[in-house]
Parts: sequence; structure tokens; C-alpha cells
Amino acid sequence: MNKYVLSPSILSADFARLSEEIATVEAAGADWIHIDVMDGHFVPNITMGPFIVATCRRITKLPLDVHLMIEKPERYTEAFAKAGASGLTIHVETCPDIVGSLKQIKSLGCRAGAVLNPETPVGAIQPALREADLVLVMSVHPGYSGQSFMPETIGKVSEIRKKLDALRSFAWLEVDGGIDMETLPKMKEAGATAFVAATAVFKHPEGPAAGVRSLRALLD
Ligand code: DX5
Ligand code: ZN
Repeated sequence: MNKYVLSPSILSADFARLSEEIATVEAAGADWIHIDVMDGHFVPNITMGPFIVATCRRITKLPLDVHLMIEKPERYTEAFAKAGASGLTIHVETCPDIVGSLKQIKSLGCRAGAVLNPETPVGAIQPALREADLVLVMSVHPGYSGQSFMPETIGKVSEIRKKLDALRSFAWLEVDGGIDMETLPKMKEAGATAFVAATAVFKHPEGPAAGVRSLRALLD
């Protein structure tokens, strides 16, 4: 496993050619595949469910990094685990018992992730830091790809980096939203180790393979 991982988000992929798009980013050096699950309640958009995760599981051997932007995520964790998710990341804003929910995810054999929205203070994720295998900092308001990076989230990444280091945690520190050639190095400098990108990969002017290669080059 690389020290840094790139997790292309299929939210910006061409779904008419999903299999080809995933095979392309895998061959170009993607480490994980990020799948954005949205329910139309926690976020305004509606996207993919366990069926798409199962479809991706048939297409690729790469770990499936599933980001659950849904109310009451614990109702669906088992279905996503059965569909083949490698990691399930849940929003602290949706979980009254974040530690319990992370433990439940681990019991399903998945990497357990906790994520916070741009406006959610770092303190909200503090109780989850010991339990989490991955901490995700949103650098846009979740819901859509192609939004502008929010620079005020850089400080949050540094703050969480310090807390994870103090706990001697090996958790991945992931960032998601507006990650591109300009913003990725800033988040890496702040201490992020996993990078989600939809637009910068799948809408790259020279195609997704070039998108992966140029971002990965910043991580090697
Ligand atoms: C946003 C999603 C992101 C999104 C990123 O709600 O969680 O994963 O796909 O898209 P870009 O990289 O275009 O900001
Ligand atoms: Zn995401």
C-alpha cells in the first residue's frame, strides 16, 4: 500500500461507460475507488446505492471507498458491506453514537471512516479519533462534484493531523472536494494522506488516465 492514496470519485465518471472508466483509472495508478452515496435528505442530491457498489466490486479489485452522505447510515452499513465496500465513511452530523457506529462498521469487516462537513467543528470528531481507521475532512459542502475548494478547511486538516499523531493513530486522513493540482499539495502539506478527486480525474482535458497520473505524480 502506498503511503499516500488517490481515490478517484466515480461521481464524475461517464456511467454509460462505467466499467471502462474504472479500468482506465485503475491501470493509470488509482489506489482506491471513491463511491459517493447520497440520499436526497442529508444532502440535496440522490446518487448511488448498494447495487452500484456491487457493480463496482465486479469491475475492479481496488478497495471501494464508500462515502455515505445519508441520514441514519447504520441502517445501511450491512447492505453496503455485503455489496463489497472495503471502507464505509459516515458523517458525524448523522451519528448520535459515532463510536458505536464505527465499531459496527468494523464488525462488518470494513475500514471505518468518520467525516465532518466544512462547518462542523473539529471537536465533533474528537471522540471518534481513537476508533476511526480513516478521518475525512470535507473541503466542499457535500452534494455535488465540481465545486470550489474551501481554503478554510486546510487548518482543520493540520489540526486533525496533530491530534492523530498525538494518539499515535495510523488512520488515513482523507480530503474530499475541489482537490486538484493546485489544492492537493496544500492538503498534503497540512498532513492529509488520502485524496479524493472527481472532476480533476474524470473531467481532465486529456482524459481520466492523465488525471490520475498527474495527481499521483504529486504524491510519489
Ligand atoms: C461531494 C463528494 C465528492 C465529490 C468530489 O459531495 O463527496 O466526493 O465527488 O468532487 P470534486 O473532486 O469534483 O470536488
Ligand atoms: Zn465523497
